[in-house]
Amino acid sequence: MKLATLSKPGGLDQLRIVDGPEPGEPGPGELRVRIHACSLNFHDYGVVTGTIPTDDDRIPMADGAGVVEAVGANVSEFEAGDHVVSTFFPQWENGPAPIDNFSTTPGDGIDGYAREYVVAPARGFSHAPSGFSHAEAATLTTAGLTAWRALVVNGGLKAGNTVLTLGTGGVSIFALQFAKMMGAKVISTSSSDEKLERLTAMGADHTINYRTTPDWGQRVLELTGGRGVDHVIEVGGPGTLPESITAVSIGGHISLIGVLTGRAGDVPTARLMAKQARLQGLIVGSRAQQQDMIRAIEANDLHPVIDRSFALDDIAEAFRHEEAGRHFGKICLEF
Ligand SMILES: NC(=O)c1ccc[n+]([C@@H]2O[C@H](COP(=O)([O-])OP(=O)(O)OC[C@H]3O[C@@H](n4cnc5c(N)ncnc54)[C@H](OP(=O)(O)O)[C@@H]3O)[C@@H](O)[C@H]2O)c1
Repeated sequence: MKLATLSKPGGLDQLRIVDGPEPGEPGPGELRVRIHACSLNFHDYGVVTGTIPTDDDRIPMADGAGVVEAVGANVSEFEAGDHVVSTFFPQWENGPAPIDNFSTTPGDGIDGYAREYVVAPARGFSHAPSGFSHAEAATLTTAGLTAWRALVVNGGLKAGNTVLTLGTGGVSIFALQFAKMMGAKVISTSSSDEKLERLTAMGADHTINYRTTPDWGQRVLELTGGRGVDHVIEVGGPGTLPESITAVSIGGHISLIGVLTGRAGDVPTARLMAKQARLQGLIVGSRAQQQDMIRAIEANDLHPVIDRSFALDDIAEAFRHEEAGRHFGKICLEF
């Protein structure tokens, strides 16, 4: 079978497409899945460029979707022919988060889904939404579930709330879609006026160019009559958190999700305290949360925004496309 591997120390020119061993039969509790699609995340970019160190010859990609080919003994939830999508934490089925690292995450601590076949425990998959393409399903594992958990699980999003999304990457576009689906107002930022127009077309109530309006937190206050937003999808990290704290309402909620501007920095703690806001870190979510999200997606006929798909052979080119930052929503591999 065809697969992609990454040699140490990483770097897009260290990605190779090779012939791997054919998959065996699934053991008890396992599935054999023909993977047809992956989606790219900033985390996968960190792995393939070597910023996030991993083992030699690692198979990258955290998100995989495809068709069940065979089921092992004691698997009652799936049968051959089912369309499935992987979970980010194969061992976290439900309840509170049991893990604070990526040691069990496919494409980082263990081999991922840039391969035609995988034999793996069934609990590391859920059913895909009905009517979804494999590429659409593959966008849910990381970006979709992160946005869902931030807003719905941790945020307790209500109709009439106002949500702030930063930039137009995978997580932020899902957050816009979920927020509108649930009757919230949305303020969205981007560095590109052209992307701001697309955000408006998707239902964003207000947009702000964060390049030309560097004090966008203040602009959010103006747009909300001085009140601020109930939820911030904080994907930027230290470079954006101070503005997010300005933008959040008193008693509001900031989901600390991303590291786009770095991994450490100054936080205006007194301003955060005065806002009496809740700053909640999170890493993706559980399988049960993924299943809840998928029910909501099916009930509302929501479809992810896919910017572009590449062949598995062109995995390095796909990451160069992400690196260029011209994408809007998700980038996928289809094979
Ligand atoms: N904690 C978790 O569970 C979790 C899960 C998924 C992702 N993440 C993190 O969340 C972040 C986003 O991930 P992603 O996969 O959605 O990334 P992505 O698809 O690669 O999106 C990147 C986009 O972010 C925007 N951006 C870049 N710098 C920005 C800044 N200073 N202010 C506002 N927006 C900025 C840009 O949008 P414009 O072009 O519109 O400006 C860019 O296109 C990453 O740091 C990733 O590691 C965390």
